Amino acid sequence: MCGIVGYVGGGRDAKSVIIEGLRRLEYRGYDSAGVAVVADGRIECRKKAGKVADLEAEIAAHPLDASHLGIGHTRWATHGGPTDVNAHPHVVGGGKLAVVHNGIIENFASLRAELETKGYTFLSETDTEVAGALLFDVYVNQASQDLTRAMQLTAQRLEGAFTLLAIEVGQPDRIVAARWNSPLVIGVGEGENFLGSDVSGFIEFTRDAVEMDNGQIVTLTADGYSITTFDGASAEGKPFRVEWDVTAAEKGGYNSFMEKEIHDQPAAVRDTLYGRFNEEGRLTLDELRIDESVLRSVNKIIIVACGTAAYAGQVARYAIEHWCRIPTEVELAHEFRYRDPIVTEQTLVVAVSQSGETMDTLMAVRHAREQGAKVIAICNTVGSSIPREADAVLYTYAGPEIAVASTKAFISQIVAAYLLALYLAQVRGNKFTDEIRGIIEQLQEMPDKIASVLENADQVRELGQELANSKSVLFLGRHVGFPVALEGALKLKEVAYLHSEGFAAGELKHGPIALVEEGQPVFVIVPSKSSRHSLHAKVVSNIQEVRARGAVTIVIAEEGDEDVVQFANHIIRIPESPGLLQPLLATVPLQIFACAVAEARGLNVDQPRNLAKSVTVE
Ligand code: F6R
Repeated sequence: MCGIVGYVGGGRDAKSVIIEGLRRLEYRGYDSAGVAVVADGRIECRKKAGKVADLEAEIAAHPLDASHLGIGHTRWATHGGPTDVNAHPHVVGGGKLAVVHNGIIENFASLRAELETKGYTFLSETDTEVAGALLFDVYVNQASQDLTRAMQLTAQRLEGAFTLLAIEVGQPDRIVAARWNSPLVIGVGEGENFLGSDVSGFIEFTRDAVEMDNGQIVTLTADGYSITTFDGASAEGKPFRVEWDVTAAEKGGYNSFMEKEIHDQPAAVRDTLYGRFNEEGRLTLDELRIDESVLRSVNKIIIVACGTAAYAGQVARYAIEHWCRIPTEVELAHEFRYRDPIVTEQTLVVAVSQSGETMDTLMAVRHAREQGAKVIAICNTVGSSIPREADAVLYTYAGPEIAVASTKAFISQIVAAYLLALYLAQVRGNKFTDEIRGIIEQLQEMPDKIASVLENADQVRELGQELANSKSVLFLGRHVGFPVALEGALKLKEVAYLHSEGFAAGELKHGPIALVEEGQPVFVIVPSKSSRHSLHAKVVSNIQEVRARGAVTIVIAEEGDEDVVQFANHIIRIPESPGLLQPLLATVPLQIFACAVAEARGLNVDQPRNLAKSVTVE
């Protein structure tokens, strides 16, 4: 939620660097954008409701002077609607100080009242302008015009979540920033330095980065940076090198990031598997630093996550219970701590998150650890908050996911969770090494199988165009096909604004079948014929039931499955696979379908309305 960029250097024009960073961070929020620079001893600011492109038009109409220092912001509105006035940066102190902010300041109302009694007035409805005014007041009255000290004192008074960046005309060589429960990374260049909500804010200029910890303040100049705690004690960040380069964050010839990321999936699976087992099939999850005796003592697993990541968790539950025989629950992270869950030292909590910044999931992690549970994060963003606060992390190596709708992260979350399950089975002796090796070999075949599903993308796209004007679409699945159905429905809601619902196919006759009328499109995910409990036959019956009531059936079935042909209006073929691995294939056409419907409806596939990529508010 909200993307933040800061630049201080010598050789480049700050606004161009900042605009470039904002474009890459726009997926975090895109209802307004702004930039402020220090030029000739004054702050110049341009901001605009709308996209970064609207800000660029504003700057073209009202140019900004060249400068070597500035801050920028792309917003997902919380306090105050998406207007020009509410857009960041907020310039306070009679034009002397500018701030940008990500997060929510919970005590902003009382701070605002306090500042009003001192004579401050406010132009916007935002909590950010209040934080800026407080910072300015502290800067002038308590911190002897030292911006770092002022930020330390201000940060101590703010409650909630914030990444706050500030520039001040009196100290035109520096940006000072505070981080609390909201992300911030430093980019280290030569004679220039950067700040970003994540590394994509500066990836074009440097791949050397420093992770900041919660409760830290950084003072950034062209020559270096220094970090302190909110109390002013000297502190350190954690340097790391970004493993992907700028091309990974480009569309690469596809119409949208979503389409590109769907096509990245074979590589995402390959990279997530890479280096995690030896030739005998022994898993070596080096980064999973939890003692094996602790893993052996686990008697319950709770997977916490939101949205698509929670559906990945639902898929994983089937594998964990089947392979490890450990009772496993999947809980929406925002519900978890409010229901007083039974968590003990024998509970293993697995937090799944692409961004690693989802506040609901982070809060669930904290709650679980407070109860004594061990927490393993499955995460795609190196150095983000959730893996940092967890006891251990298993990274998914999907590369940067820019489109708001999650695709390759979902697939690689399932793969990572399966690796975790197999590791638990290995440590606890639930499976022999050769059994584990067999499953790993099946997983290793998945990139090619996903690639072959992608070869049929045109068929699915045409279907998307044909059904783009449907009133609603239903998705049915059983067993691991059920969370796949939920994910298919979420994708369609999210990017195509088309009403859709996913159901466990067995639930149909308990109510939802009443929705089916003539012409109703219904996707059905058909399990492998070799699946257990004769699931295949049951799902084939479900197809007949909806077809008999007039549904247009779109059947996702394995190659060679002829039983479904007579009941299918459309068949999308996927390669044969073991039942538990089928979600890695069956989800792909649903992603392509949602993307195609959104395009046919003329929508911005990558930036659906009202959404943001990383949800850093509760
Ligand atoms: C849907 C989607 C969201 C996220 C959810 C969790 O396409 O992207 O439902 O899955 O907001 O986000 P992360 O995985 O970053 O915690």
